[in-house]
Amino acid sequence: MSIHRNGLSADEWDERNFPRPERCDFDEVVDRAVSRRGFLGGALAFGSAAAAMGAGLLKGTTALAAGGRFAFTPIPIATDFAVHVPEGYGWQVLVRWGDPLFPDAAGYDVRDGGPVAGSDRVFGENTDGMELFVIGGRQIVAVNHEYANLEVNLPDAQEGRPASAEDVRKLQNLQGVSIFEIAEDTTGWRVVRDSPYNRRITHNTPMAISGPAAGHALMRTEADPTGMRVLGTLNNCGSGKTPWGTFLTCEENFNGYFGATGELPASHAEGFKRYGIGKDGWGYDYHKWDARFDVTRNPNEPHRHGWVVEIDPADPNSVPVKRTALGRFKHENAACTIAPDGRVVVYMGDDERGEFLYRYVSNGIYVPGGDTGTLLDDGTLYAARFEDDGTGRWLALTPETTGMSAAEIAIFTRIAASKVGATTMDRPEWVAVNPVSVEAYCCLTNNKNRGVKPNAGGDPTPVGGPNPREVNHYGQIVRWRPDGEDHAAEGFAWDLYVMAGNPAVHAGTPYAGSPNVTAGNMFNSPDGMVIDSAGLIWIQTDGEDSNEGDFAGQGNNQMLAGDPVTGEIARFLTGPRGCEVTGLMWSADRRTMFVGIQHPGGDWPDGAGRRPRSAIIAIRRDDRAVIG
Ligand code: FEO
Ligand code: CA
Ligand code: CA
Ligand code: CA
Repeated sequence: MSIHRNGLSADEWDERNFPRPERCDFDEVVDRAVSRRGFLGGALAFGSAAAAMGAGLLKGTTALAAGGRFAFTPIPIATDFAVHVPEGYGWQVLVRWGDPLFPDAAGYDVRDGGPVAGSDRVFGENTDGMELFVIGGRQIVAVNHEYANLEVNLPDAQEGRPASAEDVRKLQNLQGVSIFEIAEDTTGWRVVRDSPYNRRITHNTPMAISGPAAGHALMRTEADPTGMRVLGTLNNCGSGKTPWGTFLTCEENFNGYFGATGELPASHAEGFKRYGIGKDGWGYDYHKWDARFDVTRNPNEPHRHGWVVEIDPADPNSVPVKRTALGRFKHENAACTIAPDGRVVVYMGDDERGEFLYRYVSNGIYVPGGDTGTLLDDGTLYAARFEDDGTGRWLALTPETTGMSAAEIAIFTRIAASKVGATTMDRPEWVAVNPVSVEAYCCLTNNKNRGVKPNAGGDPTPVGGPNPREVNHYGQIVRWRPDGEDHAAEGFAWDLYVMAGNPAVHAGTPYAGSPNVTAGNMFNSPDGMVIDSAGLIWIQTDGEDSNEGDFAGQGNNQMLAGDPVTGEIARFLTGPRGCEVTGLMWSADRRTMFVGIQHPGGDWPDGAGRRPRSAIIAIRRDDRAVIG
């Protein structure tokens, strides 16, 4: 999430409402900073090893430009309200906020906010993580709608504050998940409105709760005394896809929807503090109109959000399941892979300054065609610890290591990870697993508090390891290779794939970035990330697009391609000013790449002074060759 309200980002809003304690161990900061030189040397050495290991990857890829792995000529930055792609590529809008997803849907009038009726029959706002599923030869998209811009959805309400239960319901309808079929014809791509697969999932869709927290006393509410059922999935950010063909939607800033009409419950103080649940929320004001979100009346309702939710796109009547074994935090995405012995591994970031990187390993093994119903319910959660010497370990979160019950570990995962001494990170966003090499990557988007403030649980955030810069406005991407080429192994080796920076402004300092960052490809705040079938890393940004000061020469948010072997990075797409680029998937034939443009500015994409609308665009090569 970038723009939230009144020009504040979600982070700034959170910070304003829930300020972190001011404390810093300066001695530690200095010690770690000194070791930075050794760390960078290590990163380069690791790169050479990667070049040797990855030499075979080049075979079998298609549409490569002569002399490199990028099948395009990199483009310059942009500062306009337009989308730009390389020469030889074109784009069109697939679907925009408010477009109807059903034959009987009227479409949402984005000029005046539209009526509440039918607001759950259209493509929601703020498109984010998405995945494509091929079901019975049809192409089905599942895509997240992360949040709602209050002023634009409720133009008649003062400052966009809901003034009725209907206003709240409209906001709830325009978020969640959209599932719909797409098809390509001679005019390009379109939504198949009469497909039986089309579905909207909102903040009120009935869901089940499974795993260690299901039924626990902390999960029970007035409306659900069983603690097994819940309404809605909140703040759906990044995504994931299981090997068995289900969609994983990740609940990120769920805390912002809760507020209190009376006192905050003292019994819940520690958890509320760590997860940022407060009296006023982030302005959605659900709690004033929908008692479920009023923590004075329903103090356990926030425990029922902040999860990874599994959805079966093949069955529009299926009940989504909140998989509590994957932990509760501000989930970014969920990157699945299979260990050599068949166990399911899910990597997950917690996107908040100084929080952690996680891994889940199932107890059962995945058998294609077998029962997958409990693979995400029964397993162990781990938090990552990174050492300065380029090694790391996954620390198991168990009753033995944390002194907490399995249900408590699931519900208060952040607190459990603090107890085992995991490494506080620079806001872990998307994790991507390389399908052609046993390694994974995580975008650490930025962290203005690195070395300045502890996290909300009081854990220090010293400079060092994969978080090597104090007051980090640019971000970096950490990569790890599991020991024994086994994603379920305890140990790993890590390096930084890239440290973003500005070589034009900060030459000769760590803020210039790593050597693979140049004046020609620079960017800040890597966020979305997917690795394609050929092993190229696609990096999407959600950062500062002022193009001034520290960010001069970086332009609008963008998407770049990275070569994991050489470290080379090239700019492929620039988004309209004001937007974040987030969400990436390919058509079944991989000749179309779909990219999400969230919260654009100006009048993109409709032009002529129309209100800007988040949209998914379809990008194809003019020669229709494969692009990923
Ligand atoms: Fe929704 Fe951390 O991005
Ligand atoms: Ca976003
Ligand atoms: Ca994101
Ligand atoms: Ca972000």
